[in-house]
Amino acid sequence: MKLADIYMQFQSDITIIEQELEASVQARHDVLKNASTHLLKAGGKRIRPVFVLLAAKFGTYDIHVLKNIAVPLELVHMASLVHDDVIDDAELRRGKRTVKSQWDNKVAMYTGNYIFAKAVEASAYFDHPRVHQVLSNTLVEMCIGEVEQIRDQYNWGQNLRVYLRRIKRKTALLIAVSCELGALAADADPVIQKHLYNFGYNVGMSFQITDDILDFVGTEKQLGKPAGGDLRQGNVTLPALYAMHHDEEISHLIKNMLKNEFPENIDMQPILKAVKESGGIDYSIKMSDRFLHRAYDSLERLPDCEAKNYLKEIAAYIGKRKF
Ligand code: IPE
Ligand code: IPE
Ligand code: MG
Ligand code: MG
Ligand code: MG
Repeated sequence: MKLADIYMQFQSDITIIEQELEASVQARHDVLKNASTHLLKAGGKRIRPVFVLLAAKFGTYDIHVLKNIAVPLELVHMASLVHDDVIDDAELRRGKRTVKSQWDNKVAMYTGNYIFAKAVEASAYFDHPRVHQVLSNTLVEMCIGEVEQIRDQYNWGQNLRVYLRRIKRKTALLIAVSCELGALAADADPVIQKHLYNFGYNVGMSFQITDDILDFVGTEKQLGKPAGGDLRQGNVTLPALYAMHHDEEISHLIKNMLKNEFPENIDMQPILKAVKESGGIDYSIKMSDRFLHRAYDSLERLPDCEAKNYLKEIAAYIGKRKF
């Protein structure tokens, strides 16, 4: 089954979520409204809302309850993207210009804050203290993750543990809580909530590692932005980390090229090629697969049902995101 078929099964509920998302970014202020709508309309997979819906199938499924968790989670994701593109100085997102590029960094800062605030507002409909604890804790961790990334920029000596902790905060937690809170909102058994959390965490880790691999091997068309952007910005992700630890020559090559005053002028091709040849991509694929298999193990602990199969399909899709 293809991802599109799974979305098809949930078409009417995704439409409800989409309408709520659109309504929630309406603002009296034109710039905030236009910048938020610009990102919303640029697309996106809406994978976090889909995880909410699928996780809820393990309990009592009611879209009018679930939308109050799916919408805030997607808004948190969107806000983090707007801020991420400031931190990463990115020009393109979802194939369109980023908010920071179409407007500027200040507008992006406030648009991100505004979307975060809207996430809080949307979640207020939820009368369950645990939902708010989990959400706020996730926000705190995500902020720490992004700030750690700034701290670790151009830090060529960082180890694997630091990288894994950072991607957990940046990416995996939000996916984990999408699964957990979907189940919680549907009153599923707490043991099931826990397994779904673990599933989401492992899928999220695999997802970010895959994203980091794609930044080395993807085409501009696939990525919606040019390849090599992470390293150009000094973000040391798994493929580069491996290459630099295993090959001194590559390590020198990367450090020297990135001393360039004008990173936008660097030809990334030789670096991308060297990282590929070092085995850094293969190693990262193996690591991503390891998390994926842990995700499958968590799924095995869940009762058999259609949603379980769909979750497996989505996890597989993430693992197979074209290299
Ligand atoms: C992009 O997330 C940022 C990462 C966590 C790697 P998605 O790939 O879910 O972004 P959209 O929403 O589909 O654009
Ligand atoms: C994920 O990291 C960003 C967030 C979780 C906000 P990236 O910086 O790799 O995401 P992309 O590649 O810009 O989508
Ligand atoms: Mg980033
Ligand atoms: Mg980025
Ligand atoms: Mg990336």
